[in-house]
Amino acid sequence: MTTQQTILLTGGAGYIGSHTFVALHEAGFVPVILDNFSNSHPAVLERLQRITGRDPLVERGDVLDTPLVEAVLRRHRIAGVVHFAGSKAVGESVAQPLKYFENNIGGAISLLRAMEAVYLAPDSWGPPTLVFSSSATVYGDPATVPITEDFPRSHTNPYGHTKLVIEDMLAAVRQPQPAWRIATLRYFNPVGAHPSGLIGEDPAGIPNNLMPFVTQVAVGQRPQLSVFGGDYPTPDGTGVRDYIHVDDLAAGHVAALRALSSGESFTVNLGTGQGYSVLQVVRAFERASGRKVPYQIVARRPGDVAQCYADPSLARQILGWEARKGLDAMCVDAWRWQSQNPKGYGT
Ligand code: WQD
Repeated sequence: MTTQQTILLTGGAGYIGSHTFVALHEAGFVPVILDNFSNSHPAVLERLQRITGRDPLVERGDVLDTPLVEAVLRRHRIAGVVHFAGSKAVGESVAQPLKYFENNIGGAISLLRAMEAVYLAPDSWGPPTLVFSSSATVYGDPATVPITEDFPRSHTNPYGHTKLVIEDMLAAVRQPQPAWRIATLRYFNPVGAHPSGLIGEDPAGIPNNLMPFVTQVAVGQRPQLSVFGGDYPTPDGTGVRDYIHVDDLAAGHVAALRALSSGESFTVNLGTGQGYSVLQVVRAFERASGRKVPYQIVARRPGDVAQCYADPSLARQILGWEARKGLDAMCVDAWRWQSQNPKGYGT
């Protein structure tokens, strides 16, 4: 993948998408956002303009609209696609499974159909090149840690099930058509924000994830953190996860696009290889922010696993990439975003 090539980011106005937009711009690519703004805020576009110095290219629409996706691929002569668009709340997926199967699996099918129509046609300008936003959730409850890519996959909720099914679809389309170049990236726990404090995680409603909940407690929006379980078989009894700075994650996408130029498809973990417990994150955040984070240990959350962290060596080998930022930087950047934007993009 040479630079000055246009890259389509489905769901590009979202948390990971917006940070990847910046990383691609800085790497010399021309990122184009396709977003229906159902779970992202248009204000992020002005923030991206302030960071990159130019108005972002944006197509407002739904990845489920196959003709629209095909038109966008042609309009911008897209060289590669990064597929972020999808619903991602574990709890919501249990309550509304059909929304998740329709949106996530249907959206992926629609994108693949549009890419087939463009890149497998006689007038194609290049091979179908796709980076897919998968998740460590496909590992279910791992028997041991750290996790390598050959670990068995399973699902414990519809959200994770959709990620697993899409991974299988991506493997299936390559059988009859080896021209497909596909990178499947299994994210561990993305946290933090761009150091400018202009873009960051802005969950709607009550945050499902740990870090945005912690930052909202620190800024005074919520009285205390509920720690889901203090009796796990971990050093301090609380859940252990592999937190990765969102900017390291974004850099992993740039490296994946470049690696796809070789023509080989691959699946890699994007994690740091370092696990931290909930209480370790709370203490690191208190140090970073200078704020107390009151908490109460309560019952385990159904579906949670005790430990989940990556062996990131395959990504280092294939992508020449590894996470560089540690937990303190994650907390400093998360706090800067939250404290400068108490109401997220709604400010
Ligand atoms: C982390 C730890 C909780 C909230 C999920 C998805 C994954 C990805 C990231 C979408 C756990 C504990 C949390 C709280 C807590 N999702 N916790 N109190 O569950 O590891 O991963 O989110 O991209 O695919 O599976 O992340 O941040 O929800 O939880 O104690 O209020 O924090 O029990 O140990 P998780 P999380």
